[in-house]
This record gives sequence, C-alpha cells and structure tokens, in this order.
Amino acid sequence: MTETTSSAPVAVPAPGDDLVDALVRRIDDRSARVLIVGQGYVGLPVAMRAVEVGFDVVGLEASPERAAALQSGSSYVADVSDDQLGRALAAGYRAVNDPADAGPFDVAVITVPTPLRDGAPDLAYVEDAATTLARRLRAGALVVLESTTYPGTTDELMRPLLEQSGLKGGAELFVGYSPERIDPGNARWGFVNTPKVVSGIDAGSLRCVEAFYGALVDKVVPVASTAEAELVKLLENTFRHVNIALVNELAMFADSLGIDIWGAIDAASSKPFGYMRFTPGPGVGGHCLPIDPSYLSWRVKRRLGQTFRFVELANDVNEHMPDYVVTRAMTLLNRNKLALNGSRVLVLGLSYKAGTSDWRESPSIAVVERLLALGADVRACEPYLPEAGGPALPTPVVDCTADELAAADLVVLLVDHPDFVLDEIAEHARLVLDTKGVLRPREFSGETL
Ligand SMILES: NC(=O)c1ccc[n+]([C@@H]2O[C@H](COP(=O)([O-])OP(=O)(O)OC[C@H]3O[C@@H](n4cnc5c(N)ncnc54)[C@H](O)[C@@H]3O)[C@@H](O)[C@H]2O)c1
Repeated sequence: MTETTSSAPVAVPAPGDDLVDALVRRIDDRSARVLIVGQGYVGLPVAMRAVEVGFDVVGLEASPERAAALQSGSSYVADVSDDQLGRALAAGYRAVNDPADAGPFDVAVITVPTPLRDGAPDLAYVEDAATTLARRLRAGALVVLESTTYPGTTDELMRPLLEQSGLKGGAELFVGYSPERIDPGNARWGFVNTPKVVSGIDAGSLRCVEAFYGALVDKVVPVASTAEAELVKLLENTFRHVNIALVNELAMFADSLGIDIWGAIDAASSKPFGYMRFTPGPGVGGHCLPIDPSYLSWRVKRRLGQTFRFVELANDVNEHMPDYVVTRAMTLLNRNKLALNGSRVLVLGLSYKAGTSDWRESPSIAVVERLLALGADVRACEPYLPEAGGPALPTPVVDCTADELAAADLVVLLVDHPDFVLDEIAEHARLVLDTKGVLRPREFSGETL
C-alpha cells in the first residue's frame, strides 16, 4: 500500500467555530433574537427591517417618552410611518426602556448617539450601551456597533467593555462594526437597497455579521477589519463635507466675480466621468457632516500629532455659510431700499435638509438666530416639525400660503422640501433669496445664492 501525504492543511476547528455555526444557523432560520440598543433615526429603521424579515426584535430605548411612544404605535422618525410601526408591533416588536425587560438576545446592534463635546468625541453613550449589554451577554452572541465613530473604537473601546462579561471576544463572543448609510428622506436609496459595509474583529465574527445583515439588505460589502469599516463611514462623510465646502467657497467667489455658479455647476455636471455634482447651500447640518469629519481629525491629531487640514478648512467654510446667507439677505434688501432691521422675513425650511424633521445642527436655525439678532421680523414655514419635546421653535411657524409669501419683504428659501410649491413662491414672493438654487429657471424677483 502506498502512503500518500497531503500538503493541504488539516482543518482544525478554531475555538468558537461551533458557536459561529450555531449563530449563523439561528440567523438563517430567524430563530435568533435581536436587540437594537437606541431607537432613533438609525436604530428604529434597523429594528423595523429586522421584524419585516422575520426576527423576534426588541428595541431598547433610554428615553422613557420615546419607548412609550413607540409602544403606543407612534413613530417620531420620518422614515418610519405609524403604519409600519403598527405592523411591527403586531408581529411582536417591543420597545422597552428598562434593560431588564429586554429579555435574552443573540444579536445586539448598538445605534446610540456619538456627539462631539468641546470638539472631542463623546463616546459615553456607546460605553453605557456596551456595559449594559455586557451584563446580559451569553456565549455565542453577536454585538455590532453602528454608531459613527473614529477608527479603533470597536476593538479598543467596545470589545474590552463587552469582555467584562467574562466572555472572550472571537472565541465566545462575536463583535463587529457596520456603518449606517441612512439618508433621511431619500426615496430612491433606502435601508434595503443601499449596500452595507460589514466587519468583524475576526473571521468568525465577520461571518456572523455578514449573515445578520445579509438577511436585512440586498448586498453586504465585507471589509478586512473593524477599523477599516469605521474609516469607510468617515471617508464617505468627509468626502461630502469637503466637496460641499468647495462649492460653497466657489459660490461666494463667483458672486463677487459676477459669474453664475449654478450655470457653471450644471454645465460641469454634463461631464460623464471624473466629476460629481455638489451644490452650494446655507451650510451643513444633521448628525453626520458637522460632526463625523471631526472624529477623524481628532484621531489623526491624537495618534499622529498632525492636523487634518482638509477637514479644518471645510469646517471653516461651511460654518461661515449662515453668516454669508444673512449678508446676502441684507444686501438684497438694501438694493431694494430696505433695511433688515424691521423687515418681515419669511424663512422656508428649518430642518437640516429636505424631507426630514431632523433639526440637529441645522444651519437654518443659525440663519434665523442671526436674522432675529439683527432686528428682522422672522416667521418660518416648516412642514416637518420635530417631535413633541424636541427643540424649541426659534420663530413662529406659519403655513406657506400666497398671503404669507406676499406679505414678506424677503423670502429666504433655506431647505428644498418637496412640499414647497415652487411656482407659487416664484409668483407671490416680492423678493427671494434662494439658497438652494431650486427656483431656477423660473422667473422670480430676487437672487440665487
Ligand atoms: N441620523 C443619521 O442620518 C445617521 C446616519 C448615519 C449614522 N448615524 C450615526 O448613528 C448613531 C445614532 O444616530 P441617530 O441619528 O439614530 O441618533 P438618535 O439621537 O436619533 O437616536 C439615538 C437613540 O439612542 C438612545 N440612547 C442613548 N443611549 C442609549 C442607551 N445606552 N441605551 C438605549 N438607548 C440609548 C437615545 O435616547 C436616542 O433615542 C450616531 O453615531 C450617528 O452619528 C446617524
């Protein structure tokens, strides 16, 4: 008998392999119990989708009012309708405020805020969520972070907190990171058809993360490490932030040079390669652009001692835009022999972008505050008011009627909400500053930013 030897490696199961197989099986047959920590703009849509594909889902929400609202069928997130929430509740979804009511879980997803505090990342919510989960972890569970953060957070900060459970990451406990790409109000690209980047602290974790998100979305994009996935999110948002700053700065120069920036942007956008359209506006808002690039520059400064100059410059330009809009408003009124002080100004849109009730970091609020400080009599039209208990209205909110438009000395369009009837604005407003360039090519009395 001839003895044969093979150079192929003998497949020795790595510690945790059985647990990986077991969890993937439970994900595939939908018997895995899912816990989403944080039921906000990101967490609630994830929870709704997980219910839709057949998981047993609990949403853990730190705000008792929010948890109660969800449990009573009332959604405060524009992208999730009461109907959708009602169907989820009927299918067994529960929103709880006390972790003790959450029950056991196999997959936990953390979608809590990651704000900046004095210019530095504030990861207190992530730490709190991970500590809460550590107390309830069982061997073979998966924890995925979705909150936006600096590269290194999942492995260096979250994993040790989870390991306080006594379970070893990779062997007994699976850990991953998957950045959220939600674009509130975007009708074409939603949670399901937007590819989802996934990562794990090791191969077993990655398999579990891929299996879970593979059940929720059309396409997953695995990357080599959690730090790489964390960087993906910051790269995407820094790219937008910098490009918006570029056209904003150009808009200011073009106006001074007497050149129509919008015409130039339209023409440049006809190039089928190597150009991507970005348009000027009153600044950047929401929870991503004003914050995420600073997470990256903070990490670069902290780790490398260097300044991320593109981010600093983009912050500088974009933060200046509300002041620039007010200067343009003053100049426009002045040309019409009016002072801003005492003029009636109707602002269209207060949220940070079209089609959302998210007012966080909205540049429109900065514009309104400056107009008020300069003595203008300001009212606003805003079809997307924030939930009860949200930010206080800086100014009276009125319906966008022909009378309101005609009564204003100046109308400042700050947000291109789909609900605004552009023909009516062009027809009835006596003077308009259109900061979004949406009234073109209509005839109207006024200017585009
Ligand atoms: N909103 C977006 O468009 C968007 C897009 C991509 C990424 N992100 C990122 O996702 C993360 C969440 O953002 P969001 O917009 O959903 O925030 P959000 O404020 O709308 O929701 C977060 C929710 O988490 C709750 N919460 C805080 N700590 C908790 C805890 N320990 N346990 C349970 N609940 C807790 C809060 O009460 C809140 O309801 C952030 O890191 C953000 O940068 C947001």
